[in-house]
Amino acid sequence: MKKVSIIGAGHVGATAGLYLLEKRIANVVLVDIVEGLPQGKAMDLSHAAPLRKYLHTITGANDYEAIADSDLVVITAGLPRRPGMSRSDLLATNAKIVGSVAEQVKTYAPDAVVIVVTNPLDVMCHVVKEVTGFPKNRVMGMAGVLDSTRFRLFIAQELGVHLSDVVALVLGGHGDDMVPLPRYTSVSGIPITELLSQETIDRLVARTRKGGGEIVGLLKEGSAFYAPASSITEMMEAILLNIRRNLPVSAYLEGEYDLKDVYVGVPAVLGQNGVEKVIELALTYDEKSALHASANSVAKSVAQWEEMKGA
Ligand code: APR
Repeated sequence: MKKVSIIGAGHVGATAGLYLLEKRIANVVLVDIVEGLPQGKAMDLSHAAPLRKYLHTITGANDYEAIADSDLVVITAGLPRRPGMSRSDLLATNAKIVGSVAEQVKTYAPDAVVIVVTNPLDVMCHVVKEVTGFPKNRVMGMAGVLDSTRFRLFIAQELGVHLSDVVALVLGGHGDDMVPLPRYTSVSGIPITELLSQETIDRLVARTRKGGGEIVGLLKEGSAFYAPASSITEMMEAILLNIRRNLPVSAYLEGEYDLKDVYVGVPAVLGQNGVEKVIELALTYDEKSALHASANSVAKSVAQWEEMKGA
């Protein structure tokens, strides 16, 4: 039996636990700092088991012994964005939380693959990699799958075609400087550049960039969680079942795309070892510049975090 521990039993974490149970591929442990919260949510979900016909268990805990021997750990612990807040505003608070969680993961689940979800995402991946000392293939961030699913939806709605025919690729940091790639975005193999005007593509790209912010503005309290949890589940499934999906993830680059020592969203093959391979695309000058700009802003935030740590 595979075991997945989800740290942070809030909106994103608990929903990811629910979706994973529905997939019937692993036992789930929810961990949270709030007493009773992970236990209560896990109990509620387990009461649904006879009706939903779950094959696996879900339990909740406040202490980290519960995550021992996890195959996969998902980190969602932290504060979500509030209206008017950028993902970077969350940096100081969430770096502390994620750093403390990473210490526990290193101790209790030293062989796990880790998917980081807490924002600002790419910087939090650096925190986890540094604190755990795990190899780069075992620490990745969830962003590109979410950004791409939003782009897919907007394209499908615009063209009036079925969602499953649309394949989209969004690279870069998980923030306002993400890099949607229309050239690699198609409807059943037809590039969208042949189906939509540049003006329309620009509008859909802009909406994709602001997709998370649009939801924060509507919810007032908290940020998106159904689509993020679905995106995490897509990645968990690829890793747990070793099905080697090609998905965009925040991965640690060491020379690919002429970027070094930085986490940024790129296409990668996901399997049982985590990031099995980063796929390097031949980008145009403009696409590469946008990816580098995105990576630079991640690097700046990492430097900010290094300073905070030192202070
Ligand atoms: N250890 C464990 N859990 C913690 C800790 C900690 N040190 N600090 C906070 N938490 C828990 C909170 O108690 C809460 O239950 O993390 C959970 C976060 O859940 P929500 O507040 O509902 O936030 P959510 O919407 O799930 O977003 C979590 O994912 O998408 C990102 O930007 C989002 O960074 C945010 C994260």
